[in-house]
Amino acid sequence: MPRMNAARKHPVDFTLNGRTVLAEAENRMLLSDLLRHELGLTGTHVGCEHGVCGACTVQIDGKPARACLTLAQQVRGSDVRTVEALSPDPAVLSPLQAAFRRHHGLQCGFCTPGILMSLDALLRERPGAGREDIREHLSGHLCRCTGYATIVEAALAAAEEQRKEEKPNA
Ligand code: FES
Ligand code: FES
Repeated sequence: MPRMNAARKHPVDFTLNGRTVLAEAENRMLLSDLLRHELGLTGTHVGCEHGVCGACTVQIDGKPARACLTLAQQVRGSDVRTVEALSPDPAVLSPLQAAFRRHHGLQCGFCTPGILMSLDALLRERPGAGREDIREHLSGHLCRCTGYATIVEAALAAAEEQRKEEKPNA
């Protein structure tokens, strides 16, 4: 088995928000640090750095994952999406982001990127997601603003819109 020198950086290639990336990372570097410090994608926030708060949630191969519990080297060959991927045009919000704005789901905004990435994954996988599904997905996010109610309303509205788009005459 090839051994990697712990003190050196090693190449890590993966897809990031639809683009192929070839970065370099030491074995111990976290994905959250690679994204923020090496690749400049500061939309992924870091709170507890222990996998508890959910602020750093990104999607790896379509599933929500804690960037603070993932080593950069672990995403070799994977498809990683961060909050920056939600809208291809920074001036235009995605339907989920727009619903957060309409329903005041942003709160102070620190936890918002992670919450959006969890809910985006949920709505892609289960467009029919209801209140209980949404609450269950939110249970992995600890937020000091509390007030999850507006976030749930925003997610429900986005799910409804998504269903209408998929079945325009429903
Ligand atoms: S910063 Fe990763 S879960 Fe809190
Ligand atoms: S949005 Fe979570 S602490 Fe404010």
